[in-house]
Amino acid sequence: MSPAKLLVVDDDQNLLEFVKTKLGAANYQVSVAFDGEEALRIARATLFDLAIIDMRLADQDGMTIMEHLHTLDPAMPVIILTGHASVENAVEAMTRGAYTYLTKPFDLHDLILQVNRALENLKLANENRRLKGLLNEKYDFDNIIAKNDKMQRVLEAVAHIAKTDSTVYIHGASGTGKEVIAKALHLQSIRKDGPFVAINCAAIPENLLESELFGHEKGAFTGAVRSTKGLFTQAHGGTLFLDEIGDMPLSVQVKLLRALEERQFYPVGSEKPVQVDVRIIVATKKDLVEEVKQGRFREDLFYRIHVIPIVLPPLKDRLEDIPHLVDHLLKKISTQLKKDVHGLTPRAMERLMQHNWPGNVRELENTLEYAVTMTQQNVVTDDLILHVKSATNPASNGHDAASQFLPTRDTQKSLKEARTEFEKEYLIQVLELCGGKAVRAAEMAGKYRADFYDLLKKHEIRIADYKKTD
Ligand SMILES: Nc1ncnc2c1ncn2[C@@H]1O[C@H](COP(=O)(O)OP(=O)(O)OP(=O)(O)O)[C@@H](O)[C@H]1O
Ligand SMILES: [Mg+2]
Repeated sequence: MSPAKLLVVDDDQNLLEFVKTKLGAANYQVSVAFDGEEALRIARATLFDLAIIDMRLADQDGMTIMEHLHTLDPAMPVIILTGHASVENAVEAMTRGAYTYLTKPFDLHDLILQVNRALENLKLANENRRLKGLLNEKYDFDNIIAKNDKMQRVLEAVAHIAKTDSTVYIHGASGTGKEVIAKALHLQSIRKDGPFVAINCAAIPENLLESELFGHEKGAFTGAVRSTKGLFTQAHGGTLFLDEIGDMPLSVQVKLLRALEERQFYPVGSEKPVQVDVRIIVATKKDLVEEVKQGRFREDLFYRIHVIPIVLPPLKDRLEDIPHLVDHLLKKISTQLKKDVHGLTPRAMERLMQHNWPGNVRELENTLEYAVTMTQQNVVTDDLILHVKSATNPASNGHDAASQFLPTRDTQKSLKEARTEFEKEYLIQVLELCGGKAVRAAEMAGKYRADFYDLLKKHEIRIADYKKTD
């Protein structure tokens, strides 16, 4: 990791020189500013990890400068230096957002101690945020199933690439594990203690995407009541994952290209460039070569991001992974649902092996989640492998126990339609089993009650229709 960057603001030239030399010797990268205006100018161009500000300066008071710096980065710790110790000063500094204060003349060791402590706290806070971002899941290789040759090569590539800072381009169909690989790359890299920031470019409206990525200045557009750090800045020192980059509108593609080429960018409404240290990983399920041909994706951007490609094979091309994935996912799901289900009957496994898995690992996971939810035993039997049957076995006579959940066997429908239909049938089935007791049904479905009600509403299912009358 590069040394922490500190900004010291004081109108006493001798003190600036002294602090700069001493903190420099303590392995910090120190920038100095003589007044508030200079401090702000420097802070707009560089991201600092911490600031040390004199309370009384020629042009402004130190706390106002602190507040200006906090509009750029609310999380940055600030140490205030005061000329004379007074409880009021100290209290005011702390309530206005200072990390701590020191009275002049201060002891150098005290200063270094406070700086270390503040940075340590900041690291912990970032770490917490990162862990939450990663949902406490582990993305070490133990949790990535890859017995298949192609997948083995993917993992080898990940281990290798993680050590570099190059842009990685992950291509794979829906549910093949693109996000899993992106997170693993981050966690294997030297940036693992930095943030992992992800954005789904398909999920954000065009007019908001630019400011989401690059941030904006206060007043840059209607509703921009305060300046905001964009995701690029939030990912400083870590990794920025641009998911579904194939869906990025052309207008934003231009801005991204410029940011990648110039290694700096301008927040919306700002003329001051910002530089950050970020590793980029992109993912797409679209064929971007085709998108380029169709004029929907910029060719120059494609070449800029297509530095190290990783291609994830569809699940149907790695059937040998299925039994291992089943083992892994059954453990994960049983723990989540607090059930003890540890295997499949041979017929159930056979059914999984015959399916062609358009939704890949995610579809397999959903299939198993349903089966684990419904089973009354500690193994999964083939009759619980439901929607798989509908796709692979359309000629089935339709008179077995499972068929009643599947009114249509039209394999032409889209995965989304099939999923929606499956979800509705599933909910009805669970409600029937529970005699219309919603609390019990929600539990069985592994959903919070509120989420379960939302699902019922979405499918226009009335609980009353399933209440047992006896
Ligand atoms: N090789 C693997 N080993 C274990 N679990 C996996 C593997 N690949 C995918 N998964 C699991 O499958 C699910 C889907 O994976 P992920 O979200 O990474 O796919 P994706 O390609 O990003 O999907 P989408 O295109 O829908 O965004 C996740 O729950 C993930 O944990
Ligand atoms: Mg994804």
